[in-house]
Amino acid sequence: MWQMKEGYKPFQEFGRDVYTMASFFPAEVSYNIADPVTAKEIFSSSPRFPKPLKFYTLLNYFGDNVVGSDGAIWKKHRKPSAPAFRYKNNKLVWDEAAKITLSLFDTPEWCGKDVVRIDHALDVTLPLALAIISISGFGREMRWENDAYIPTGHTMTFKDALHIVSGNLRVKLLVPEWALPFRANWRLVERSFKELQKYMLEMVTARRTSEVKEERYDLFSGLLDATEKDDARERLTDAELLGNIFVFLLAGHETTAHTLAFAFGLLALHPEEQDKLYEEIIGITPDLRIPTYDELGKFKRTMAVLYETLRFFPPANGIGKTSAEDTTLPTSTGESIVVPQGTLLALDFLGLHHNTKYWTEPEKFDPSRFLKPDWPREAFFPFSGGVRSCLGRRFFESEAVAILAVLLSRYRVALPDDLDVKPTWENILVPTMSLTMAPKRIPLAFHKR
Ligand code: HEM
Repeated sequence: MWQMKEGYKPFQEFGRDVYTMASFFPAEVSYNIADPVTAKEIFSSSPRFPKPLKFYTLLNYFGDNVVGSDGAIWKKHRKPSAPAFRYKNNKLVWDEAAKITLSLFDTPEWCGKDVVRIDHALDVTLPLALAIISISGFGREMRWENDAYIPTGHTMTFKDALHIVSGNLRVKLLVPEWALPFRANWRLVERSFKELQKYMLEMVTARRTSEVKEERYDLFSGLLDATEKDDARERLTDAELLGNIFVFLLAGHETTAHTLAFAFGLLALHPEEQDKLYEEIIGITPDLRIPTYDELGKFKRTMAVLYETLRFFPPANGIGKTSAEDTTLPTSTGESIVVPQGTLLALDFLGLHHNTKYWTEPEKFDPSRFLKPDWPREAFFPFSGGVRSCLGRRFFESEAVAILAVLLSRYRVALPDDLDVKPTWENILVPTMSLTMAPKRIPLAFHKR
């Protein structure tokens, strides 16, 4: 996706919320944008400002899909997947998230322990988020105890295959086929791609041949039905089916897992904020019952903690659009920018999320800012904007609130006592850029309440 940026600093230094960048190889001019007025205009017209598809080649490895396409092809992918993201399925996501989180406490690592030491927050959040998208999107159950189990006919787990693929898309794209056997890591990458493809094909065959047709209308049913459409303009090919399964598995769990990991790190570093959050959660469920999806609206501070986490650590820290025509763009100062056809427009989410004209003390972790009715929505884009904004936003909000509500009502999250570095923001919350922004390593200790 986009390179690491420095928040609002470069914009402050230039004294402008939109600045130009020029490169010689390739000879290109682009605009970096942290101006909400300019961003709104770009998001409001997808045909005028389409996606620069050349940046999405990696995501299309298994087949074209809803993220890496545009125009009529995009509509063909979006139509069969959208119904699965409505109320009924989000409720299912909530219930599954609560159930899977509860089952974590029965695993040998957690059961009967007063303190659970975790080497890296992702060790918990990645399998959790993957299990949720697998069951609620694709009807594929994943249990904690099956984590290390390799099924017959495979040489690695589904989880490992997916994670190695997502972390190594570039290797597969850049290293020529004939060179792959020459390095151990490349051989592993090659094997992971084959394994993942095999797992996805097995999922397709199992669902197509299953005698009991799934009653619920999940994402998988929508995609499979689209492969049988009579109208070729609406029909998904088998490669497109795999492309979408892959992208939903990936977009549907990495973003969530990384955000939750950063949220746990932030709460461990800010115990006073965690206390306020605990008060909200325990106020809604004093008897530790599982809250229901219809209570989601009550978890205002929980959502505010997630939004504040996304303000600092948006999984996509920016996205690009291009200009399909010679045009102009408005800015918040009233000045217009001239944009020639083909110009790359880089929407800098970290810049927008730290723009001092919209956010008070943007460097402070302060979830309460999102509790004010007039918080600056126009400068908050972790889910992108316009018609190409995130399809899974409510899916994420449902699972993440359910997980925090269940986990933090029972455990207090802290940094371990035996840290080998000073417990500071800079040492603990180190972002790295893989496909999305990820925490490098956040060690945690969960204390039973
Ligand atoms: C913290 C959670 C999440 C964040 C911050 C997030 C962010 C984003 C962003 C920035 C985009 C635009 C990407 C681009 O234009 O290149 C996007 C698109 C998308 N996201 Fe998410 N996402 C999250 C969770 C999810 C989940 C859980 C799912 C599915 C289960 C999902 C599915 C999608 C899909 C299908 C698109 C493409 C939509 C389209 O172009 O029509 N996302 N997301």
